[in-house]
Amino acid sequence: MVGFGFGAIENGTVVKLKDFHDRWSWGREEMRYSARNLVFSGLVTSVWSHFGGIPYRYPDTPGIYTEEHVEAWKPIVSAVHAKGGIIFCQIWHAGWVSHYGFDGVEIHGANGYLIEQFLKDKVNDRNDEYGGNLKNRCCFPLQVVKAVADEIGQDRVGIKLSPFTETANAIDSNPKALGLYMVKLLNKLEILYCHMVEPRIWMKDVSTVMVSEDKHSLKPMRNAFKGTFIVVGAYSREEGNEAIANGHADLVAYARWFLANPDLPRRFEINAPLNM
Ligand SMILES: Cc1cc2nc3c(=O)[nH]c(=O)nc-3n(C[C@H](O)[C@H](O)[C@H](O)COP(=O)(O)O)c2cc1C
Repeated sequence: MVGFGFGAIENGTVVKLKDFHDRWSWGREEMRYSARNLVFSGLVTSVWSHFGGIPYRYPDTPGIYTEEHVEAWKPIVSAVHAKGGIIFCQIWHAGWVSHYGFDGVEIHGANGYLIEQFLKDKVNDRNDEYGGNLKNRCCFPLQVVKAVADEIGQDRVGIKLSPFTETANAIDSNPKALGLYMVKLLNKLEILYCHMVEPRIWMKDVSTVMVSEDKHSLKPMRNAFKGTFIVVGAYSREEGNEAIANGHADLVAYARWFLANPDLPRRFEINAPLNM
């Protein structure tokens, strides 16, 4: 495991990124964060958090739009900070999270949700300025990134993208062009990181991750992006180390391994067996 400097955020060393949720109550969520997962100093992205007034699909997912929500997040954020960690709030829909104590915001532009529905030509059937050609389809996602960056500073903003994946039938006919176009425009906004899902993986439904043998590389996007590039998708310990060593990514994120192995960084460090 190696340390990693992370832009303007000085507290803590980024070693891993993870997303996690259970089904999905606040109580269990909080316990999960505090009792199991805060055993390391690293970067944590919170579960997708939705905003008031906007319809959302899953019941009982955590929100961040009432005072009660804010108060409930505070001990979680504090617990991560107490361990020297960094915590970004991953948001589904754009909104205002600047004063909640998180270190930054990860915009969820992946896995078939709202932002990705703008990006991909097989699902974006608009005929206004947000649909049609690549530039138009990327317009709304980039406006969201800019709005969040203007609010909290571009060095506290990340985005998760999955141009290659076909989650929820959100498919693009030219994912490489889409990924490249996005990272080049993100460069202009100078955000902190881009977190990209490997082509070999997609979410069949909310809890089923499919993996194919096809191991396309995100290398073109990695090469084009000037900020921190994070990859995710069925990485083993060895593959993660290899990805870092050969310059495929700056950081490798682990999701499912973390669910079964809350002490994953330690296990990786000593090369211990993993719970499946
Ligand atoms: C139960 C479950 C919940 C997930 N929740 C999120 C989420 O809230 N936000 C997100 O961006 N990805 C989410 N994902 C996708 C993972 O972050 C990750 O991209 C995917 O599982 C591939 O990584 P892995 O092979 O290390 O598990 C979830 C995946 C699973 C299995």
